[in-house]
Amino acid sequence: MKAALIGHPVSQSKSPLIHQYWMEQYGVEGHYDLIDTPDGALEETIQRLIAQGYNGFNITVPYKEKIIPFCDVIDDTAKKIGAVNTVQIIDKKLHGYNTDAYGFIQNLKNSAPSMVIRDKVALVLGAGGAARAVIYGLINEGVEKIYLTNRTIEKAEKLQNDFGNKIEILNWSDRESKNQEIILLVNTTSLGMIEKPSLEFNIDHLNDKIIVSDIVYNPLETDLLKGTKERGCLIVIGIGMLLHQAVPAFELWSGIKPEVTKGLEALVLS
Ligand code: ATR
Repeated sequence: MKAALIGHPVSQSKSPLIHQYWMEQYGVEGHYDLIDTPDGALEETIQRLIAQGYNGFNITVPYKEKIIPFCDVIDDTAKKIGAVNTVQIIDKKLHGYNTDAYGFIQNLKNSAPSMVIRDKVALVLGAGGAARAVIYGLINEGVEKIYLTNRTIEKAEKLQNDFGNKIEILNWSDRESKNQEIILLVNTTSLGMIEKPSLEFNIDHLNDKIIVSDIVYNPLETDLLKGTKERGCLIVIGIGMLLHQAVPAFELWSGIKPEVTKGLEALVLS
């Protein structure tokens, strides 16, 4: 299996650890390379990987949208999310996928097996690329309503335009106003991440039966997760999304559907 990650920067990525772990587990020979790709070098990098017979690659910041014009085929999920994070190369043609929504939903189901998303009300904080994948995933699972709030309201409006009337927008200053109604809270902003500002979110009126998910995984347990866990909420840590989004990619490249195990989680956390 010849695979890689294209992005800038990429040195901090955990993806090589994940794919190399599975290669060992399933006896697949190959390698997963980190390819730091400066602005302007995307096309040349893709051509090189095609010429060298790679099975495919992952794409991260800042190329998840920029890769789209280079893809010969784009699957419906990636089209709707508007970003590609996984490419399979078949007969020198690029097939683009987005596995982030799958990763988010699988992580949620794995961490909260008894949770039923269908017909429930969620609050999503943030309207960036990650929010698009989260919202796609929740709508696909039949969520009843999504309250969406973002500092820049125009970005939330764009998502509402793209994903439809299950989305109701809240002003960022009113983000806690539906706390008594929601059963799922998802932070998709970068707030609470190490070296970023903290997320100001008053959890006082949250129902303690709700599920709280944060896509930030550094720190592993954000202040939002710590606070809500103390109240008795079920929390879903972000690292699981990273592990689960890698599953379809490995399967596309190797033909083997790998498992997310405790051993893999421990390795990535070490
Ligand atoms: P990603 O692709 O990981 O979602 P992104 O597209 O840069 O990254 O989105 C980051 C999210 O964090 C956005 O919702 C952003 O809000 P804006 O759209 O207003 O920029 C949110 N965010 C980042 N810094 C923030 C801050 N200081 N206060 C509130 N929201 C913030």
